[in-house]
Amino acid sequence: MKSSDTTPVVNASFHEDGFNQDPYPVLEEIRRAGPIVYNELLDRWMVTAYPLVSRVLGDSGHYAQGASDAFVDFFGGTTMETIDEPERHNAMRGIWAEDFQRGNLESRRELVERVVADQLDPFVDRIRSGETIDAVAELTRSIPTLVIANMLGIDATMFAQFSAWSDAMGTTTEGALDPSEKGMETVMAGRRATSELNAYIAEQVKDRRRNPTDDLIGKMVAAPFAQTGMSEVEIIASNTQLVFAGNETTAKLMAHTLVSLAAHPDQRRMLAADRSLVLPTIEEVHRWQTITQFIDRDVRAEVELAGLRLSPGAVVMPLQGAANRDPQRWDNGSAFDITRPPRQHLGFGFGLHSCIGLNLARLEVQVWLDRLLDLLPEFEVAREVDYGPNFQLRGPAAVYLAG
Ligand code: HEM
Repeated sequence: MKSSDTTPVVNASFHEDGFNQDPYPVLEEIRRAGPIVYNELLDRWMVTAYPLVSRVLGDSGHYAQGASDAFVDFFGGTTMETIDEPERHNAMRGIWAEDFQRGNLESRRELVERVVADQLDPFVDRIRSGETIDAVAELTRSIPTLVIANMLGIDATMFAQFSAWSDAMGTTTEGALDPSEKGMETVMAGRRATSELNAYIAEQVKDRRRNPTDDLIGKMVAAPFAQTGMSEVEIIASNTQLVFAGNETTAKLMAHTLVSLAAHPDQRRMLAADRSLVLPTIEEVHRWQTITQFIDRDVRAEVELAGLRLSPGAVVMPLQGAANRDPQRWDNGSAFDITRPPRQHLGFGFGLHSCIGLNLARLEVQVWLDRLLDLLPEFEVAREVDYGPNFQLRGPAAVYLAG
């Protein structure tokens, strides 16, 4: 599809070296160009304004999940994330919806506290004894992985293998952006991890049919909709997607939290002294440093957006990171301020596909941040943070922490 004469064009390259270190100046340039801006390099219509981004994400009748084939390929089957037909999507999502409700997650708080203490306490001991350690490799990744492994009912003897599969899957995007042989090897390792995890889940699914359980795998296996409306491949892929969707993302939110608070020591001290600010801080970090920076949507039926007529075949690129700093919605949106009045942001998406795990992610980061402030109220980031090349799921590749 060609850009119309009246639509502004900004040919931003989101894969250029260094872009992901600080994408916000380019996002501001796109915003300044107009409410909907064409990118000839990507053949996409970029959207930065908060109301327009939420309109696109909230209208699954006109905008379908983008890159669906790639998602299906990545997980080895269809999952709720790639189904846009509301009835089938909601039936699949409904199997686990209650487990992820905020009130019901309170029953998981003890599990989260145990996992956080097991991972965080030895890490803090090492920092206190003078070491400088990468918190991404040695702390943040393991927490969501171990929590979801427990919720799925994975045997504790498999946790190390389970984490290794999840980590290898998580580096696939970075691998795909690296044209060297190493990049290709990373992609292949990610694919191997997905198929090994799928094979393991397949065994677990069979086992749950023989011995019913009330963990998440057992719940899906026993659900009437899974028995009549889902193929075996979909059941397996759905569990694998659940593993993947929450791990990399929640770990990145923790890493962004460390970097944001280290860069704003006055706010970190205010937070350490007043823990009622913990949840607002997590939301502010997520708004200010959005992880899912964009989610492509394919136009599925003729639609008008900001005066522009879009036809099936066009691809829209809602830029959540830009929308989360929209000056029409937030005063001085480029500033980090944990005392901001709370307002919903788009870091967990919006509409049909909005994140099912958002309350779990919030619980994990809350428990982790509270304990971190108890044990290590003063910390600093010892080296420049490298954000790697992954703009779609943006977060620090490493955070070297010192006490
Ligand atoms: C900070 C952490 C997280 C972030 C930033 C995040 C972000 C997102 C976003 C932006 C979407 C919408 C995707 C779209 O519109 O296509 C989404 C969907 C989803 N997320 Fe999360 N997520 C996080 C944590 C989790 C956790 C902990 C889980 C589960 C354990 C999870 C499971 C899912 C699933 C299954 C979907 C698909 C929902 C659907 O299609 O109905 N996420 N997430």
